[in-house]
Amino acid sequence: MPAIVQIQSLSKTYASGHQALSTVDLEIEEGEILALLGPNGAGKTTMISIICGIVSPSTGRVLVAGHDIVDEYRITRELIGLVPQELTLGAFDTVWNTVNFSRGLFGQKPNPAYIEQVLKDLSLWDKRESELRELSGGMKRRVLIAKALSHEPKILFLDEPTAGVDVELRQDMWKLVRRLNDSGVTIILTTHYIEEAEEIADRVGIINQGKLLLVEDKASLMHKLGKKQLQIELRAPVAAVPESLAAYKLEASADGCQLTYTYDTQGERTGITALLQDLHAAGLQLKDLKSSQSSLEEIFVSLVSAP
Ligand SMILES: Nc1ncnc2c1ncn2[C@@H]1O[C@H](COP(=O)(O)OP(=O)(O)OP(=O)(O)O)[C@@H](O)[C@H]1O
Ligand SMILES: [Mg+2]
Repeated sequence: MPAIVQIQSLSKTYASGHQALSTVDLEIEEGEILALLGPNGAGKTTMISIICGIVSPSTGRVLVAGHDIVDEYRITRELIGLVPQELTLGAFDTVWNTVNFSRGLFGQKPNPAYIEQVLKDLSLWDKRESELRELSGGMKRRVLIAKALSHEPKILFLDEPTAGVDVELRQDMWKLVRRLNDSGVTIILTTHYIEEAEEIADRVGIINQGKLLLVEDKASLMHKLGKKQLQIELRAPVAAVPESLAAYKLEASADGCQLTYTYDTQGERTGITALLQDLHAAGLQLKDLKSSQSSLEEIFVSLVSAP
């Protein structure tokens, strides 16, 4: 089956001359949860805005369920729900009217029972008659999600949905995302919270300076790029790492009581056996050993800071 979103050689240069996206190719599979990670200004919102038809691409094209997002805008837009990064809501409308109206904009017949369920899922039911200006920031964000879901989209984009959101809402949101995903909705989200990508996504895309650096299955990404570290606690502090151990590139803690050895989990040999022998030969006595696996966060930082 062809991918539900096909992004082909997509580039965007804004009128200012700034190139925000540079020949991005990406296929998003139906039913997956894809997290896009990237620092501020990486081009995440630009990419999402193009797919949703808010920003026009400079070159390249995007197909949603086989339809071109420019030539067949109405069809593709109906398939998509967008929770925008910025809070863009009126002030005087009620929650109920806002969400209901949004459904109508997509040409869907009214379905009060469906809207009721969405509002209940987002703990907005009690607020349905409140005017938007009376809501807190987190509640407004819930309304944006409800709006995005109002027309029962097949693909949901969440652009930094948890920015400025409390723990409870974040948990509610992920529950809802999982439920939607279970019902077949494809989810694409951007986040600055790497733990979230780690927790929720099936695949992770890393974007920096307009380039998609990689897209990979989360588990294999962590496996492929994951480095392990071995912390060696010493019985007595060392002033410096002995010369005889230089090859291991050990890092000594400030107090000289701990040495850290970084090794590749993919390597044929970890080098740990030899290291332990050489530590012994250098007269160092061990108190304890601990190993830790690098997180997605470290992988991410090392990728985006690479020259
Ligand atoms: N309308 C615009 N006109 C000119 N430049 C723009 C416009 N919108 C975005 N940019 C620039 O394009 C680049 C990418 O912006 P974009 O909003 O896509 O990044 P982002 O990855 O979503 O960042 P953030 O994590 O901060 O939301 C930035 O350098 C930004 O300043
Ligand atoms: Mg953004």
